[in-house]
Amino acid sequence: MRIHVLGSAAGGGFPQWNCNCPNCEAVRRGDPLLRARTQSSIAVSSDGEAWVLINASPDIRAQILAFPDIQPRQARRDTGIRAVLLTDAQIDHVTGLLVLREGERLPIYCTRPVYEDLTTGLPLLSVLEHYCGVDWHALELDGTPFEIDGVPNLRITPIPLESKAPPYSPHRENPHPGDNIGLWIEGADSGKSVFYAPGLGEISVAVRERLMQADCLLVDGTFWREDEMAQTGVGHKTASAMGHLPQSGDAGMIAQLKHARAERKILIHINNTNPILREDSQSRSRLSEEGIEVAYDGMDITL
Ligand code: MLT
Ligand code: MN
Ligand code: ZN
Repeated sequence: MRIHVLGSAAGGGFPQWNCNCPNCEAVRRGDPLLRARTQSSIAVSSDGEAWVLINASPDIRAQILAFPDIQPRQARRDTGIRAVLLTDAQIDHVTGLLVLREGERLPIYCTRPVYEDLTTGLPLLSVLEHYCGVDWHALELDGTPFEIDGVPNLRITPIPLESKAPPYSPHRENPHPGDNIGLWIEGADSGKSVFYAPGLGEISVAVRERLMQADCLLVDGTFWREDEMAQTGVGHKTASAMGHLPQSGDAGMIAQLKHARAERKILIHINNTNPILREDSQSRSRLSEEGIEVAYDGMDITL
């Protein structure tokens, strides 16, 4: 199984267009200790030919240009992307769907609450009916693995997450199962597993189990601190109000990953304010001591 990180930043990307926090200012200035990142998306394949795109970021056009393996190879109009799988209905995970409008009918795998948000509060799927059209495949939360048509040898199980529905969802302050899911993906050939959860607010028993079992973890790296937005002077929302578990703290992500057996523990969906983006920061050294990696655009993982 191959996992290709198309975009490793949280919503806004890095640098964010209007942000002058120390990280954004430094990366814009060309400081070699930080690297720019596009918004959250990965592609997964078993054979390197047929790919499932997991989340479609507003940066998708640049992401496809940077990754030849999913570019057209055969027919006059062609793509390596066989389907799109969505973990939630957040802007940074779905607005790239509009960029795929020139293609064939688009197979979209998502839960019913996500489908509802994308046909009401942010009706991208309704808009796409006037272009390529979409074939919705409803994801169930009963723990049964499914396969994506045309993407062989991947078994995927949706895992409900405690996080946040987007602001335009009727579920924003009234969470429903399926607003946010993580993905347990097994390679049928390799027998290896990855747990992908870019937005993870709380560690439920079911999530804890997956964190302990996976061969590879790609999990929420949004914030270092609960009050990071306020501390950096860019806003007032806390990490938990946004549905993200910070890395630091007694019950933070570092503590949660302590006893995980995964051969790779990787943080992804990193907000531009996060000090781990700076390679010489204390927080980054702390991660290295714990064997935790920080995803970057173009990171390619073979399991
Ligand atoms: C989030 O994951 O909380 C979002 O990236 C926030 C946003 O897109 O503004
Ligand atoms: Mn996000
Ligand atoms: Zn910033």
